[in-house]
Amino acid sequence: MSDVVSSDVLVIGSGIAGLSFSLNIPETYTVTVVTKTSILETATNRAQGGIAAVISDKDSVASHIEDTIRVGAGLCHPKVVESIVKSGPKRIEELVRLGVEFCREEGCDDFDLGLEGGHTNRRVLHVKDHTGADIQRALVEQIRKRSNVTVYENHSAVNLYMSNDCVMGAYVLDKETKTVKRFPSKVTVLATGGAGRVFLYTSNPDVATGDGIAMAYRAGASITNLEFIQFHPTLLYHSKIRSFLISEALRGEGAVLLGPDGKRFMDAYHPDAELAPRDVVARAIDSELKRTGANFVHLDISFKDADFIKDRFPAIYSTCLNAGIDITQEPIPVVPGVHYVCGGVKTDINGKTDVRGLYAIGECAGTGFHGANRLASNSLLEGVVMAHNTAAAVSDDLQRGIEVHSMPPWDPGEATDPDELVVISHMWDEVRRLMVNYVGIVRTNKRLIRARNRIGFLAREIESFYWDFIITPDLIELRNIATVAELIIKMARMRKESRGAHYNRDYPEPSKAAVDTVMKKGYISVDEE
Ligand code: SIN
Repeated sequence: MSDVVSSDVLVIGSGIAGLSFSLNIPETYTVTVVTKTSILETATNRAQGGIAAVISDKDSVASHIEDTIRVGAGLCHPKVVESIVKSGPKRIEELVRLGVEFCREEGCDDFDLGLEGGHTNRRVLHVKDHTGADIQRALVEQIRKRSNVTVYENHSAVNLYMSNDCVMGAYVLDKETKTVKRFPSKVTVLATGGAGRVFLYTSNPDVATGDGIAMAYRAGASITNLEFIQFHPTLLYHSKIRSFLISEALRGEGAVLLGPDGKRFMDAYHPDAELAPRDVVARAIDSELKRTGANFVHLDISFKDADFIKDRFPAIYSTCLNAGIDITQEPIPVVPGVHYVCGGVKTDINGKTDVRGLYAIGECAGTGFHGANRLASNSLLEGVVMAHNTAAAVSDDLQRGIEVHSMPPWDPGEATDPDELVVISHMWDEVRRLMVNYVGIVRTNKRLIRARNRIGFLAREIESFYWDFIITPDLIELRNIATVAELIIKMARMRKESRGAHYNRDYPEPSKAAVDTVMKKGYISVDEE
């Protein structure tokens, strides 16, 4: 393969956002999708709960909007919420046409709709408990049929290429040949997913290292709302099985949380108990763990009919059984873990960033839809709607005509092989541990200052590694997680209040003044503290 791959559109990432976007670009334009490992290794592929949309007559657009805004704790962009929620049913129809087989109620054609925390109506379309895998499969099957779309697996984007203040493609490391190639394009779309791996405990796949956010930031794009890191209350607590989510849909079907004494505790924290918004449930568990000194709490669904459990949650049932836990007979040990970045690269409703030639969609984008806290199952919805909107905007751009600039070869400078590769894995561990210890579910000013001082030192060291040593996939990701960690800390320090997924014990209440200030300038661009 040549070391230059030109196309009309370069898409970085292969989850629901990247693939739906690519399918919506007219076949007259060439699209290149680069993805770090396999096309299937995405957060979409792991999504269990489902995709929220107003499908039932008993539900309404107004109620979905209201739930999204209430859970978003005052920071949702109302117009964006309205537009995404309204587009939901159409996008669901499209997914069905593409081959996603959402569960239907027995004996009729109606969709079987699930319930999750924060929703006042059943509106979560799902394929048992492996919705994301089904969506991913359907999208990949369609992408394979497209002659205008070429997918490069095992390719890690290193940096965006800028010419005249405009993004015109990216440098990408081919992991097999270990060479950095040029991918010039007229338009570049970031669909790189989240950044769960910035923290030690996460439900996210290993690829979720905030690459899109870090690259966009280096290119000068505004980044917004990164302090709102959503913790999922229930990850499986197990010594060998890492990052396995126990879907909120279990709580939707009646599962209860039990403390070390075997008693329910959520009633003491919120009137909606186990179905309270995620930040509330995660903080309640954190507080119970701290209060009792236990390592985990239990989630119990064993009182439901065993056949129902096995049929509705086959993936969770079998993974837990492999871990020695029969969920039809006993409760599941669970802990909270990082699940979702509510902010990201600031975009408008068409995925446009404030850097020319650059779009962002999916979890790496900050549209304002999730505000300070994402409503469960709203992310696949945002991903597919934004992909659709952005494809229309990009097609318009292409129709108007954009020139591709030639891209100079990658300059490795004086880089040499690192003498001790182990240092890179130590730094990975240091950053992730630091974030979970000091920038976790409950933050304080002191912890944030400590985190800022330590990350500042680490980030400088990592940056010098990046320039001095031949780049590897690990080094690219390490640099990105350090950048995103710095941004999260910076934004968490700027927010002098508690709101949604950001809780600071030194400012335990939401503050109107803080919203006004941060809303006025609710983003960070390259040149400011
Ligand atoms: C879950 O299944 O609990 C996750 C759903 C989501 O995060 O939207």
